[in-house]
Amino acid sequence: MKTLKRSLGLLKRKLGRMVEIKAGILLHQPVAAREGAGIPGAQLARASVYRPDLDYSKDEFTRRNLRQNDLYELLVDRRPVCFGWVARAGARVGILHDIQMTVPDRAFYIWDCVTPPEYRGRGYFQSLLKQLVSSRDTGANLALVAVDTRNTASRKALAKAGFQPLFSYLSIRVLGRVVLAVANRGHRLSQAQILFDQLA
Ligand SMILES: CC(C)(COP(=O)(O)OP(=O)(O)OC[C@H]1O[C@@H](n2cnc3c(N)ncnc32)[C@H](O)[C@@H]1OP(=O)(O)O)[C@@H](O)C(=O)NCCC(=O)NCCS
Repeated sequence: MKTLKRSLGLLKRKLGRMVEIKAGILLHQPVAAREGAGIPGAQLARASVYRPDLDYSKDEFTRRNLRQNDLYELLVDRRPVCFGWVARAGARVGILHDIQMTVPDRAFYIWDCVTPPEYRGRGYFQSLLKQLVSSRDTGANLALVAVDTRNTASRKALAKAGFQPLFSYLSIRVLGRVVLAVANRGHRLSQAQILFDQLA
């Protein structure tokens, strides 16, 4: 019995490595000035210059900047407590597996957000999001963000920060090759890439 369980576990792990099924949701909200966005005393700042304490190599930081991405951080008592990258209009971004998106005109796309483990659960991500969508700095009128359907903490923070789902998508990769990538908008199924292309 033990041997059978172990073999089944091994098979499951092998299959898991061969077949990767991932799903996500694209969310949006208008950018507009709002009073009292975020936690009092927490400030949003753009990290325009590389610092060694950032969790990215200098090359990666520069590469992202050159591809129209800016790093924002939320500062509490001048200490960074949450980070998020923002891709500007025209940037080409990867969404999931082979699915990509060109950020539409007058929009920005928030991605690769992280709250270091010691600061999690204090509303810092929500505060970063709220300040981003109420900032006039970007000149944009629409904020977009994508989230893995299994990321409960992120989904909760995004909903509390006012983001609404636009559509959901699913991609299946077998042995490194995408075999299916579909999106569901208003109960209509289409090829995921087509729907993302229509946003531009
Ligand atoms: C997702 C992440 C950025 C959230 O950061 P955070 O600063 O802790 O987020 P917030 O405190 O603003 O909000 C998280 C909410 O989810 C809740 N939460 C946390 N873990 C949860 C879980 N496993 N299940 C349900 N809710 C959860 C928190 O209690 C909080 O809700 P509340 O305000 O009602 O208490 C952080 O967990 C992280 O860095 N994760 C790894 C990277 C990642 O997944 N990035 C997502 C990019 S879209």
